[in-house]
Order: sequence, then structure tokens, then C-alpha cells
Amino acid sequence: MKKRIFSGAQPTGELHIGNYLGALKNWVALQDDYEAFYCIVNLHAITLPQDPATLRQKTLDLARVYLAAGVDPSRSTIFIQSDVAAHAELTWVLSCIARMGELERMTQFKDKSSKGSSERAGVGLFTYPVLMAADILLYQADLVPVGQDQKQHLELSRDLAVRFNRDFGETFKVPDPYIPKAGASIKSLQDPTKKMSKSDENPKASIFLTDDADTIAKKIKSAVTDSGTDIKFDESRPAINNLLTIYQLVTGKSAEECEANFEGKMYGQFKGELAEATIEFMRPFQERIKQFDDETVKEILRTGADSARSIANATLRDVYQKTGIS
Ligand code: TYM
Repeated sequence: MKKRIFSGAQPTGELHIGNYLGALKNWVALQDDYEAFYCIVNLHAITLPQDPATLRQKTLDLARVYLAAGVDPSRSTIFIQSDVAAHAELTWVLSCIARMGELERMTQFKDKSSKGSSERAGVGLFTYPVLMAADILLYQADLVPVGQDQKQHLELSRDLAVRFNRDFGETFKVPDPYIPKAGASIKSLQDPTKKMSKSDENPKASIFLTDDADTIAKKIKSAVTDSGTDIKFDESRPAINNLLTIYQLVTGKSAEECEANFEGKMYGQFKGELAEATIEFMRPFQERIKQFDDETVKEILRTGADSARSIANATLRDVYQKTGIS
């Protein structure tokens, strides 16, 4: 039997090359060896205000992104979180064993609840990581491929699985994170000390998956650089580190090959080659995304929800049985 993986992304904002290199690229690679479940987490999306019509459209658009990136619906299950009610139901049970203290320590909650003022933050934003744990544990996932920013949430999922198993008997598999060595945290092009983020107000900070060739080239050209002229990986120079990491991932070259390629060259030439390589990398994705019409996507999501539901419901039944509420 193949091992299982589970991952997801929120249908909010525009996906950027950080999402692609930190997550989607690995989802596609892993589907050969694992039974994969890739979810569009629309229940997570409403932890911050969303326009309903836009959310509905973005949910379909995100499914199209998964498909265009190469997630293959004949091998992997693609589905919408709200189509499987067990996600919300297990969240409640897990909320009853999660502790206020451990949720208060979540750095994403602190960031998103306007820097420490939790008074006006939504309760959903606070319990967000519990819903994420429910997503993963329902499918008995062995592995969860994510970027670095989700590591803390994954640790909570593991803690909740261990606690539930201890209190009610062996029920959940304890999932391992899969965080890529290169690309786990692609940084903003304008401030390489911050991660590239969907919610960044400066559009020049991110390369979006929908950006055309000209826009990609301009954004790379205007990316900030650090002092020093060597085109080399260097922990103390976050800007060049970030740009070289992008170059490495879009070309598939090793770190040594990347450095050798630019030995003795200037930033201008490096940025030109980086832009070209990024544009080439994005081209097949951008051509494929036009191929999936709404009806095809909806059909894939319906089939995906059916197979996800049967697995999720079996886990939920077991949980209800063990907790004495069925
Ligand atoms: P989301 O929608 O913010 O991001 C989707 C994936 O992209 C990764 N990512 C990055 N990777 C590298 N560099 C970056 N700058 C960067 N920005 C984002 C994220 O780590 C993520 O893997 N809570 C999750 C969605 C979720 C989920 C789950 C994931 C809900 N349930 C269960 C895994 C398993 C989120 O908001 O991802």
C-alpha cells in the first residue's frame, strides 16, 4: 500500500512563485510515490473577510492552478474542503482537546490578528490550526508537504494526534512534515527578510503565477540586492540567496552549478538570465491553465469530494465511537 500525503492552499489572493516552488512543485513530484489528497481550503479562507462571489470564483481558479501545475486527477484526489463536512465536525472534537495556550503561541495568529491585538480577531482565525489538524488527521496522512511558514501548524497537528491517541486509544496516524531544503521560504523581492506573501501590498514584491513575461522581467530587474558583488549563496546576504534559490529551482541545477554559472559575472547579467529562466519555467503552466474549463474542473472536484468523503467519514465514525458521542 502506498503511503498518503495531504496538503492544501487557500483560495485567497493570487498565488505566487513562492507557493509554486515551496509547495505545488513538490505536490506534483510526490504524487508518483504517494496516494495524494490536495484540498482547496475554503473554510480556512473565511477566517478573514472575503467577498462571497470572489471566493466562489477563486475556489475554482485554484483547482485550475493545481491541474495546470501538473496535479493529475487520475492519480491524486483534488477536492474542496467544504464539500466534506467531516472537516468541520472533526474540528469541533479536536477543539475540545486543544489548549488555549498552544493556540496563543501560533505566530501566524499573532501576525494576522493585527500584531498582538486579539480583542477584535475572529475566533475562527484563532482556531484555524485546529481545522488544519482536522484536514490532515482525517486522511491518516503520513506526510504533509508545506513551506516553512506552516511548520508550527504541523507541529500542533502532531501534538493533537498524539494527545487524542493517548486519551482515547490509537486512532490517528502522526503526520510528518515534508519541507523542501531549497524553496521552503521564498522571500519578497522588495524585502528579502520577509517571506513572499499573498497579502503583500506591494505587487513588485511577488512574482504571481499569472504575470506575463514582461512583468516577470521588470519585477526581477527591480528586485533589491545586498551589498557585495559575488553571485554566491551566502546566509548573510538574504537578497542574493533568495534570487539564486529561485534560479536553482526554476532551472533544476545544483547550487554549485548555479554559482559556477555566474562566477565573475555582474548582477545585470544574472538578473537577465534569472528572468529568462523564470519565464521559461512558467510558460508550460501558463499555457495549460487555459485548457481547463469550468465544467471539467467542477466534475473533477465532484469526483474528488466523493472519494475524500468516504475516507474522512470512516475516520470521523471511529472518532465518534471512541469519544462516546455516537
Ligand atoms: P497557503 O495558502 O498560505 O500557502 C500554500 C502553500 O504555499 C506555501 N508557501 C510558501 N512556500 C515557500 N515560500 C513562500 N514564500 C511561501 N508562501 C506560502 C505554504 O507553506 C503552503 O504550503 N494553512 C495553509 C493551508 C492548509 C494546509 C492544510 C496545508 C490548510 N490545511 C493542511 C497543509 C495541510 C495555508 O494557508 O497555506
